[in-house]
Order: sequence, then C-alpha cells, then structure tokens
Amino acid sequence: MAKWRALFCLAACLYPSALAISTEQFDEELTIRPLPDGKVASTFRFTTLLQGATPRDPQSLGGDDVSQHYTVFPLALGQILREYAVTELHLSLNAGKWRYDRWGLPKELGVGTGAELWAWMGDTEVTSIDKRWKGLRNALAGLFCASLGSLDDLRTTSPVQTFQPEGDLPDWDSPHDVRHASLPSEHVCTENLTPFLKLLPCKSRSGIASLLNPHRLFDADWHGMGVHVLWREKEGVEVRLTFQSVSDPLRSGSRQKQDWSLHSLFGRSIERECPVAHSSRVLVALPQDQSYSITPEPPLVETEWAVFDTTKINMPLNTAMTWAQNFEFPTEFNGAPLTVKRTLRGTSQAYGQLSITVQNRLSSELPVLYLETMPWLVQFYLSTLKASIGGKPHALSNLTYIPAIPHSRPTTFQMLLTIPAKSDLEIVLDVNKAFLLYAEHPPDAQRGWDLPPAILTPLVPIANHSTGQLRIYTPTLLVDLATPDFSMPYNVIIFTCSLIAFLFGNVFNLLTRKFVIIRVGSDKTT
Ligand SMILES: *[C@@H]1O[C@H](CO)[C@@H](O)[C@H](O)[C@H]1NC(C)=O
Ligand SMILES: *[C@@H]1O[C@H](CO)[C@@H](O)[C@H](O)[C@H]1NC(C)=O
Repeated sequence: MAKWRALFCLAACLYPSALAISTEQFDEELTIRPLPDGKVASTFRFTTLLQGATPRDPQSLGGDDVSQHYTVFPLALGQILREYAVTELHLSLNAGKWRYDRWGLPKELGVGTGAELWAWMGDTEVTSIDKRWKGLRNALAGLFCASLGSLDDLRTTSPVQTFQPEGDLPDWDSPHDVRHASLPSEHVCTENLTPFLKLLPCKSRSGIASLLNPHRLFDADWHGMGVHVLWREKEGVEVRLTFQSVSDPLRSGSRQKQDWSLHSLFGRSIERECPVAHSSRVLVALPQDQSYSITPEPPLVETEWAVFDTTKINMPLNTAMTWAQNFEFPTEFNGAPLTVKRTLRGTSQAYGQLSITVQNRLSSELPVLYLETMPWLVQFYLSTLKASIGGKPHALSNLTYIPAIPHSRPTTFQMLLTIPAKSDLEIVLDVNKAFLLYAEHPPDAQRGWDLPPAILTPLVPIANHSTGQLRIYTPTLLVDLATPDFSMPYNVIIFTCSLIAFLFGNVFNLLTRKFVIIRVGSDKTT
C-alpha cells in the first residue's frame, strides 16, 4: 500500500515538472502576394508550439491546476485556456469586406466582418460548457480590449458541421461540443493590436513583428487579426497569432504601377532579427507572366515564392518589388471557385425577403453546406423557401432549423446545396423583422442592426483545402427595424423650455423693472 502511495506521489510531483520542461518553439512568417486587382495582400503568422503539452481535462476543473511556466508561450492566454479548459479556440477581429471574387481565397480563412469567436470544449458536470463559454468570452474581452462580452446567449449557436476542429480532440470520457458567436459591428482597432503584440515574445521590437505598424495597417483597405489555439496529438498545443491586410499601392503611388516595398507597405523595414525565433521567413509571391525585379536578390526561390530568412540575411531588410509595365486593370476576374451574394429586400419595417445567389465556377458539381446563425431580430418563414437555377426549381436537402426564441436564442439554419457545374443557384426566403422594446435599441437606433455573415462550407476538397476546412463568409447585412421616434421627447423638452423661458423672462422683467414717469419740458412752463 505504502509503495503505491509513494508511486502516486512521485507521479503527481513529476507531472507539473513535465509541463515545465516541455520545450517551446516560436516561428514567424510573413507572406506578401500581389492580387489581380492591383492590391497587395500581406499575412503575418506567429506560431508558438508547446511541445508535448495537452489541453486541460474539464474533469479536473474542481481541483488545483498544474503550475504553468512558459518562456515564449503567452502566459496571459495560457491562463485563460487552462482556467476554462478550452481545447480549441479561434478568435478573429476583422474590418472590411473580403472580396472573394477579386482576391480569391484568403491565407487565413476567418475573414467574416467584425468579431467571431468559436471554441471546442469538453463537457463535464463540474462546470457546464455554457458557463465556461461565458467566462471565456469575458476573459478574452478583457485581454483584447474588445466588446466580446456582447457575444452573449443572443448570438451563441452550436453549428458542429461548419466549425470542425482544426486540430485533434483528446479522447476524454466527456464529449466535446462547439460554441460559436459573431458580432458584425465590432471593428478591430489600435487598442486591440497593442494587447495582440504583447503576446509575442519579441513584441514589436524586432523580427517580422516590427512591421506591425498601426498607422499603416489600419489605413489598409482590409485588415484583420486572429488568434488560433489548437492541439495536435503528436506535437502539442499550438498558438497561432495572425494579422492580414490588403494594401493598395496604386492609391499611394503617383505612377500607375503595382510597385511596393516593406517601407511603402508598413512604413518600416526589419532592423534586427527576433533572437528567440526558431525560424523567421519573409515569402514573396513572384509573378509568373510579367517582368519584374526584386531587391535584395532572394537567397532562395521555392517554385513561385522568393524566400528571405531574416536569421541569415544582412540587416536591415527592406524587400522591394518593381514592375516593368504599368498596371492594367483586368476586365474579368477569375477569383474564388465559389462566390455568394446575399441581400435583404423590401422597404417595409415589418417584413422583408432574403435573397441568396451562390455561383459555382468549377466544371464539376459542388455540394456545399449553407449556415445562417441569425439573431432573433430577423425570423425566417421556412414555408416560403424557394430555390431555382435559371428559373427552374431546384431541390435542397438536409435542412436543419432551430428557430429563434425572441429575446434569448438566435436561429440556426443549415441546408445542403448541390450546385451543378458553372451555374448560379438562387434562393429566396421571406423574413419577419422583430418589433423591439424601446430599451433594446442601441443609442444610434436609426443606423439599423448589423446581421452576421452566412457561411458556406464546400463538402469536396477545392483549392487544396480538405473537406470541412474551407469556410466562405458572405458580407454582412444591415436591417432596418421599426424604430420609435426618439426625437419626440426632445421636441417636448425644447418646446417646454422655450415656453418657460418666454414666460419667466416677461414676468421677471415686469417684477424687477422700475417704472418712472419723466415729464419732458414741464420745467419750462413753470
Ligand atoms: C444528409 O442526409 C443524409 C440522409 O439522412 C445523410 O446520409 C447525409 O450524411 C447527410 N449529409 C450531410 C452533409 O449532413
Ligand atoms: C494543389 O496541390 C497539388 C499537389 O499538392 C498541386 O499540384 C496543385 O497545383 C495545387 N493546387 C492549387 C490550386 O494550389
């Protein structure tokens, strides 16, 4: 018995130290590629791998956690992940609309406008998933200075098929489940970038992260940041911090050329390397059918990419690319294989019609999952759902519909679309717009409400993304709900005040004025 106890003690003592000595690896990468419409897309990726680590088992939530010692892994994030026993987490904050038709597919898939958070967690009786999801939202809101606390039950859904885990899920007794919420009106700003930079081992002082200059990034046509945490069974826990931006060199340059340099894109060059980085690379896409020149001469060219290793190259690095010819705006774009348009029609404040057009540009049939996670503000009339291709009715299958509950739960609506080769599928659906209590309106009530993007997931691999890993976001919508006339109390106050001022002024005047009779010229006569 004593032997067993000693053994147990030994195991318990060894486990925290096993976590402490797990090695950490930090890699950074910047990818720059020109886009067909003359813009330039940049993607920063900072990956920290905690080798051999595992996510916290929610069964252990009641007791004390193992101690955490990290050198480059972000402790602030590590604490949140362990406190709420999160297995996988994805947070993205974006501003602007990603134009799939012109720009193709993004390097990092989470490009929906506004804030989006989804997490996979194990269920347990100790603390329920929903309770931990609430804590997680609030903790991340504090960490990134964003209004993620508003991603409340009114916006939380559990769409398992669309949000498949990117990594592996541990084989615990407790089943895993996903929680997802998005807030299209939340925009990314400098106050979110500062805490993001704090999670990096070299902050923004050296390495590729020194290019993250808020003045230039937030001036870009599109920009967004992401935080991704996942677990791979053979490797460990991985944290990937990403920043994507789309800049327009044609807008800033006086000549009609697509030329760019690190200095023109970010206002900075890389002055010194990040000493703790295991690898640090700048990748530049080389145009295939145009003449160009790139400086400095790339030490390594991998198929279509020029690779600069900042640990081996002379500093400072200010990669620049110049084109021989002026830029010619293409007449036709051949962007993403799948594009989607979604509009809300109708002028009434009580009813409307949602219209969705999905275009398949591939020369083969494409099955896609379509997901709407609509807040209760807009409710669907499923009986009016119609799908057609070129005017002919088309069948939809595998419909899942969880109706909204007013003031509490959003709609989850999912369907399987099978789009024939090179055709446009049109779907129309009547909707009902909610009538809100006056206290539920935001301060700028007349602006309307932003509705979250719908998400399409192709079920066959396209563009080298395996199934269930590609997500295409539609642009957000703005809905105009019946708004009370908030100007009426204002008018009443203004009129009453004018009246009081008028009466008071006259009465005060009468009471305080001294009336004196002055006889003019009476002295003369006497
Ligand atoms: C659609 O439903 C069929 C029949 O229930 C099922 O076999 C199939 O797996 C479903 N497809 C998806 C993508 O859910
Ligand atoms: C997909 O990958 C294959 C081989 O891995 C490659 O030959 C092909 O060019 C890739 N396609 C795209 C669109 O990247």
